[in-house]
Amino acid sequence: MGIFKKFALQFGKPEGMLGGIAGRLMASTNVEKNKWTISLLNIQSSDYVLEIGFGPGIATELVSKVIHDGHYVGIDYSDVMLRQARKRNKKALQEGKVTLKLEEVSNISPSDLKFDTVFSVNSIIFWEDPVNSLKRIRKVMKPKGLIALTVLPYMKGATEETSIKLGSDISQYLKQAGFSTIKTELKEMKPVAAICVLGVNQ
Ligand SMILES: C[S@@+](CC[C@H](N)C(=O)[O-])C[C@H]1O[C@@H](n2cnc3c(N)ncnc32)[C@H](O)[C@@H]1O
Repeated sequence: MGIFKKFALQFGKPEGMLGGIAGRLMASTNVEKNKWTISLLNIQSSDYVLEIGFGPGIATELVSKVIHDGHYVGIDYSDVMLRQARKRNKKALQEGKVTLKLEEVSNISPSDLKFDTVFSVNSIIFWEDPVNSLKRIRKVMKPKGLIALTVLPYMKGATEETSIKLGSDISQYLKQAGFSTIKTELKEMKPVAAICVLGVNQ
């Protein structure tokens, strides 16, 4: 496999030295879509928030500035990303506002802690079985909890149509997993529009 293909794969599960470089690249290029996703969620200071696929921990940092009596839990299955996110969020971790865990989304286990808000940025495209993972996520959400799944397709040749098609696939996954009040938001970004699909755990 060529070095470019190997590097591209690093965005799905960053590993080793190339994964470290991919993480630093994400940290410098992904701020806008993370900020946008969080802006759609209206997170309150006392909310319990779960993020799937935190990568280098950009959204972790943004959310930890908003929550004070609540808590942020992030999961990601890449230990390289766990290290980068821990480093970026050292203070919030010490303050006890943030928990970062090495976990595969399809293994999320039922817990006593229930979340008001769940989100994910450019991660669902890598999940093996999105519907079953979303069903498991629903079980750790509060009734009326909100989920937001954002994707910005960066593969070669992607257009706004690609984003819209991905949004429609994600809407179907959410419906099949039992979410309701599903709506889609689109925002112009570089190199193509980002799409965010929101749903409610009824
Ligand atoms: C393209 S990166 C995006 C990272 C971050 N959300 C951002 O916007 O910068 C995708 C992240 O999702 C994680 N990921 C992908 N599939 C996953 C899975 N099945 N379970 C847990 N994490 C996953 C990857 O390890 C990676 O950190």
